[in-house]
Formats: sequence, C-alpha cells, structure tokens
Amino acid sequence: MTNDRGSWGSRPGFILAATGSAVGLGNIWGFPTQVGQGGGAAFVLIYLIAVIFICAPILLGEVLVGRYAQLGPAGAVRRISPSGPWWVIGLLAVAAGTFILSFYAVIAGWTVQYLWLAVTDGLAADAEGSGALFGAVSANPIRNVLFTGLFLVATAWCVNRGIRRGIEAASRLMMPLLFVLLLILAIRSVTLPGAAEGLAYYLRPDLSQALNPEIIGAAVGQAFFSLSLGMGALITYGSYLHRSHAVRSASIAIVGIDTTIALLAGFIIFPAGFSIASFSSGSTFDPTAGGPGLIFAVLPQLFATLPGGLLFGAAFFLLLSVAAFTSTISLLEVPVAHAIDQWRWPRSKAVLAVAAFTFAFSIPSVLSFSGGFFSELPAVGGTFFDLMVNVWNEGALPLGGMLISLFIGWRWGARFAGDELRRDGPGFPSPALWGFLIRFVSPAAIFLLIVSRFVL
Ligand code: PFF
Repeated sequence: MTNDRGSWGSRPGFILAATGSAVGLGNIWGFPTQVGQGGGAAFVLIYLIAVIFICAPILLGEVLVGRYAQLGPAGAVRRISPSGPWWVIGLLAVAAGTFILSFYAVIAGWTVQYLWLAVTDGLAADAEGSGALFGAVSANPIRNVLFTGLFLVATAWCVNRGIRRGIEAASRLMMPLLFVLLLILAIRSVTLPGAAEGLAYYLRPDLSQALNPEIIGAAVGQAFFSLSLGMGALITYGSYLHRSHAVRSASIAIVGIDTTIALLAGFIIFPAGFSIASFSSGSTFDPTAGGPGLIFAVLPQLFATLPGGLLFGAAFFLLLSVAAFTSTISLLEVPVAHAIDQWRWPRSKAVLAVAAFTFAFSIPSVLSFSGGFFSELPAVGGTFFDLMVNVWNEGALPLGGMLISLFIGWRWGARFAGDELRRDGPGFPSPALWGFLIRFVSPAAIFLLIVSRFVL
C-alpha cells in the first residue's frame, strides 16, 4: 500500500461518506425524472424490488471485496483472481467513474446556478411555472462550461486532500441537514390542495406498465446509479475500511437512507407538480414533459408557496449542490484510486489528469442543451447527454453489477466471501442467504434484463 491511499477515521465516517456517495443528484434529480418518464408508480415498484433483491446483495459484496483486498476494483479483482478475464471489472469501473462524472458535473453546475438564482431573487421569475428558466439556464453553453468546470475543480481539490480530511468531513455536516429540509418540503408538498392526484400517480401502480422491459431496464439502471453500484465505488470506499470494521449494518443503512431520500424526492415533486399546475394555469401536469428539467421547473413553484420561499430555495439548492459534491468526489476517487494503486502515480498527478480529461469530455454534454449537433445526434435520435445516461446508467452499471456478483459468488467463491462476512459475527443477512442472492438471484435477474432489452 502506498502512503497516498489513506483510510477512514472511523466506521461512522465510512457510512457517512458511502451514503454521501449514494445520495446525490440520482436521488433528487434522477429518480423523479425517471419516474416521470417511466410512467409513475409502476416504475417505483420495480425500483424497490431491484433495490432489495438485486442491488442490496451486490452493495454488501462490493464493500466486502474492498475491505478484504484493501485495494480499489482493479487491484482487488487481481488480488482475488490473478488471472482470468475479471480485470474487465476494473476497466469498466475506471471508465464508468470518468464518463459518469463528465455528465454528472453538468447537472451539478445547473444546481449551483439555481443556488445563485435563489440568492439573487432570480427564481421568482419561474414561480408561475413557465419552465422557461430551465431552458434559459441549460441553453447557455459558456456559463455551463464554466460552472461544470468550477464543480470539477472543487471536486478535484477535495479528492486531492485525501480520504479523511476531504471526503469524510464534507459528508458529515451536510447529510443530516439535507434530510431535514427534504422532509419539510415533502410535508409542504403533500398538504397542498390537489396533491392527491400526484400521490395517486406516484403510488398507485398501473401493472400493465410494470412488465414493460424498457421500464424495468430504466428502473434497474436507476437503482444501480442511485446506490453508486456496479462500478466499484463501494469497493474503493470499502478498501479504506479497517479490516476489523463490521460492514453488514453499514450496508443496510446506506441502502435504507439512499432509498428513503429518493422516495422523499418523489413525494416533493409529484404532489407539488400536479397541485400547482391545476391551480396556477388550470392545466394538468405532464411529468413526462419535464425531462431533465422536471425538478428545476417544479421546485421554484413549490418554494413560491412557502413563506420565505426563496430562503428555502437557497437552502435547498445549497444542500443539493453538496449532495452532488459528495457524489462527484466518489466518482473521481474511483479512477484516481486506480492510478494510485495500479500505476503508482502520486495522488495529485492522478487527480489532475482525470479531472482534465473529464472536463474536456463534459463539453458535448453541456452542448446537448444549446441546440446544434450534440442536441440531436443523427445516429441515436436524441441528445449526447441522453446517450451518456443510457449507456452508463442503464448499460454499464447493471453489466458491471452482474460481473461483480458473478465474480464474488463464483470466482471468489461463496465460501470465501461468506467467511469474510462471518468475520462480522452473526446478523442479517446470513452468509447463506446473501450467498444465494449474490450467486443466483442478482446475476440471473440482470442477465434476463439485458437479454430482454438488447437481444429480444
Ligand atoms: N449515487 C450517485 C447519485 O445518486 O447521485 C451517483 C453516483 C455516484 C453513481 C458515484 C456512481 C458512483 F460511483
């Protein structure tokens, strides 16, 4: 191990940082957007099933692999299996971390701009719900390149400070604050007049929709993305744990908190969206129409219904920026840890190189919203940004998750992996239950999904 690796100050430090990685734009921006595009409650139902039966076992597995090997994904895989094709897990992890960061930082840049607008009273312009503000914000290429770049610089600075001082400290303060604010907003939203229609949309599944492979694919992809799973982020974070730190309850806490926050975001957006549309314009709310701008269109209207709403708006976008920040940190940490572990680079060189590459690659995602070539890629019939979301969230992460579960269940072997879990003493899930899920249930479910989406 080189000096540049580092470790967590404590077990709660790990839980906070891993939750900080999981909770981010995926929960508050991605989840409602995907629910809106995927037809409401049926999506929510599939999402929850995927979280419990597919993702939670893999999450525990990733943390165990990291803690066992004390190395990032590529190194951990090589330590357990010095030969064989499993190195692709490491390759996929580095690629996913870098490319997801390249479009994630763009959304994070919007969040910071909304914070600025809230502070300078600019959100009031959108209080009637024209949605024009998001169009104006997202279509300005120069400003978005600037804010994306600033977000990447801040992320790089923090990752460069290292594990304990940077990542852990940032998560500790902001996570509880974010939760309280979300709770207040959710209560406000569900008590608005006419909120029931939004609640029904969000909670009453249309089961004919639930069997649509496209919706299932999107829901499973979203679950992976939201839990930072399938690309070794949790192997990396697990590798900074001391081998005596127990991980079972920590993993359950991460899954529980992440899912609760995603669900809360839905309780904010849908009741508010339906209620406000019917009152302010007399029209009905179309969650599909919002696309990536859904939350940015609904939230300013919700803030306007609250006394001191702009203050709420400012606090909300500040905390959302921080939630995004603790996620971008983990995205960057995966390729950086790879360069440190495998190529023996100093941390600062690794950070600089990956951040610079990511910044360059973020530009087509920025330009996806300002008209022109990247807004309508001829070969895919959508934006470059949409293409990135599809390839990485719905493709690479579930694929990575399947490879990781096969690797743990069959190559590391249920017995050895189970022994690693047994170090923590008795508890839920038992090694036998977990072994069954990770050997059979998770990989088979993902395999069927991939076949049904891309082959059939
Ligand atoms: N889980 C993060 C979110 O929901 O915003 C996104 C993410 C972070 C995905 C880190 C993957 C990752 F490794």
